[in-house]
Amino acid sequence: LQYKNTLFIGKVVHAFSALPSTNSHAQELLSKSTPIEGTVITAAEQTAGRGQIGSRWYSPASLCISMSVILYPRFLEARRQFGLNIIAALAVRDTVQHFLADGPPCRVKWPNDVYLAGKKVAGILIQNQIAGRQLQHTIIGIGLNVNVEQFPPALPLAISLRQAGGALYDLWAVEEALGRALEQRYLALRGKQIASLQEEYYENLLGYGESCRYLLPGGREVVAVGKGVDEDGRLRLWFDGQEQAFGLKEIQWLPD
Ligand code: BTN
Repeated sequence: LQYKNTLFIGKVVHAFSALPSTNSHAQELLSKSTPIEGTVITAAEQTAGRGQIGSRWYSPASLCISMSVILYPRFLEARRQFGLNIIAALAVRDTVQHFLADGPPCRVKWPNDVYLAGKKVAGILIQNQIAGRQLQHTIIGIGLNVNVEQFPPALPLAISLRQAGGALYDLWAVEEALGRALEQRYLALRGKQIASLQEEYYENLLGYGESCRYLLPGGREVVAVGKGVDEDGRLRLWFDGQEQAFGLKEIQWLPD
């Protein structure tokens, strides 16, 4: 079981029918061994899928992709680690666009949610290991909603490729394409093409150069213009005549 048309991502795939979390499994592997670069862990179902800032990720059996990819981006300085968020988001977007060529535009919501028609089609959880100024390893965890026909009412802002007008997809084909897209984007990052990756990220970033509503720490609602992302991966917003940067826990984007 391995991906075709890749150099290193998915040459080893550990595919499980069920796991609590593919990211947690990748962490366990890394704690006791050095898996070869590009090792992929997938699960048809996650029983405790993990989202950002401690949230849960809905991963129903055989309807979505839950994958974690182990990489060793030692070429990347720790202060440039947001580059990994950029390549992961762009790779997911590439894949969504490929399978939904005539679908609604696919945008990125900072830091790395992937949106279709105002709803979230994929989420990404990146866990980096840093030593000194360099990255040692990263786990890029991707959850992509593929064939889900209906989400639980508690998830009104979720959407699947299927719901966005797509067919019923072969999950393996989508997973392989995702692996391929991630490898291409990773190679671009390794090839120091960070400026063009960042440009593409901004071109597709919701709220970039546009006014959107945000909830600030303390509960104040503002209309702010997105100015990009700083070196620490914080979102730069312009409001009240000045620019301020916010971390993920500090700000909430309010959809229209
Ligand atoms: C988010 O949007 O909050 C991030 C969701 C990330 C979900 C993926 S599914 C595969 C990997 N394993 C996990 O436990 N989480 C990530």
